[in-house]
Amino acid sequence: MGWVPWWSESRSSGGVFGFTSYATAEEVTHGIDASHLTAIITGATSGIGFESARVLAKRGTRVVMAVRNVGSGSKAKELILEETPTAQVLVLELNLSSLQSVHEFYKSFTALNLPLNILINNAGILGGPFKLSSDGLELQFATNYLGHFLLTKLLLEVMVGTVKDMGVEGRIINVASDAHRFGFAGGFQLEKLDDEKSYHAYLTYAKTKLANILHANELSRRLKLEGANVTVNSANPGIVVTRIIRNYRFLEIVAPFIESLLARLMLKTIPQGAATQCFLALHPCVNGVSGKYFGNCSYSKRTRSASDPKLAQQLWEFSEFMLSLKSF
Ligand SMILES: NC(=O)c1ccc[n+]([C@@H]2O[C@H](COP(=O)([O-])OP(=O)(O)OC[C@H]3O[C@@H](n4cnc5c(N)ncnc54)[C@H](OP(=O)(O)O)[C@@H]3O)[C@@H](O)[C@H]2O)c1
Repeated sequence: MGWVPWWSESRSSGGVFGFTSYATAEEVTHGIDASHLTAIITGATSGIGFESARVLAKRGTRVVMAVRNVGSGSKAKELILEETPTAQVLVLELNLSSLQSVHEFYKSFTALNLPLNILINNAGILGGPFKLSSDGLELQFATNYLGHFLLTKLLLEVMVGTVKDMGVEGRIINVASDAHRFGFAGGFQLEKLDDEKSYHAYLTYAKTKLANILHANELSRRLKLEGANVTVNSANPGIVVTRIIRNYRFLEIVAPFIESLLARLMLKTIPQGAATQCFLALHPCVNGVSGKYFGNCSYSKRTRSASDPKLAQQLWEFSEFMLSLKSF
C-alpha cells in the first residue's frame, strides 16, 4: 500500500470495509455479479464517470450513459465494448444544465421501459468565468446540483417500482468532494447564486458539492420515513487529474508534472478515483447504509454544515422553488 503522508486527505490506510485509498474500482467490485442490475451514470464520457461505466459494465450491469455529447458517449461505449463485448451499454443525451433536457432524458429513459437499480449522479464542472445556464441559473450550480436534483426526483418512481418488482435495494450515489469544506464560506447564500458580483469560481464549485451532500442526506431521510428500500449516499473520489481542470489552463499544463511528482503522495489515478462510487453502487457490505458521506470506500468526515438537517431542508425547499419557476 505504501507510505501514507499526514497531509494527504486523498490517502488513507484502510477503512472499516477493508479497502485502502489505493484500491481501484475494479478491485473493490471484484467477484460481484451485477448482471441483474441497471444503472444510470451521468457524465459517463470521461474521467471517473467513464471508469465507473466501464467497471459496472464489466460486472454485468446494464449501463445507461447519460451524456451531454452523444458522439463522445458513443465513442466511450465503443471503448467499453472493445474490452467487454457482452457489455450492455446504452447512450442517452442529457444536458444537466438544462431542466428541459433533464425532462427529455427522463422521457427517453422511461420510453425504454427499463428497470433502475442504481443512479450515479457523477457529472460535474469546475470553475470557469461566471455564466448563466439556459434557465438563467449560475452554470456550476445548475449542472452539478440542480440538474441532478431534478433528475433524481423524476427517476425515483422508476427506482422505487424496480425495488418492489425485484426485491433488490435501490442505490443513489451523489458524487461530491472534500471541496464541500469551503462551501459554507460566508454562509450558504443561495439567493446570491445568480449574482455575478458574489461569484467565485472555486467557492461556487464548493457550494455545489456541499449541496450534493445535503441533497443525499435529505433524500435519504425522506426515503427512510417512507420506508422505501432505496439508499442515498455521497462519495468523495479524492483528488484525480481529469478533464475537470479544463477551465484552468495553467493546471492543464503542469498536470503531467504534478502527476508524476505527487501521484503516490496525494493524487489518485482515475481507477482509484472511481472506486468509492463503484463500491457504493455494487458492494453488498453497504446494504441498508444511507445518508452517509464516503471516501476511500469507507465512512468519511464531512463538515458540520454538510450534516446540518436544517440546511438540507432549506436547500430542498429552495430547489423545489427553483423548479416551480419553470413549467414543462
Ligand atoms: N477530479 C477530481 O479531482 C474530483 C474531486 C472531487 C470530486 N470530483 C467530482 O467527480 C465528478 C466527475 O468529475 P471528473 O473529475 O471525472 O471530471 P471530467 O473528466 O471532466 O468528467 C465530467 C463529466 O461530466 C460531464 N458534464 C459536464 N457538464 C455536463 C452537463 N451540463 N450535462 C451533462 N454532463 C456534463 C462531462 O461531459 P463532457 O464530456 O460533455 O464535457 C464529463 O463526462 C464531478 O462531479 C466532480 O465534481 C472530481
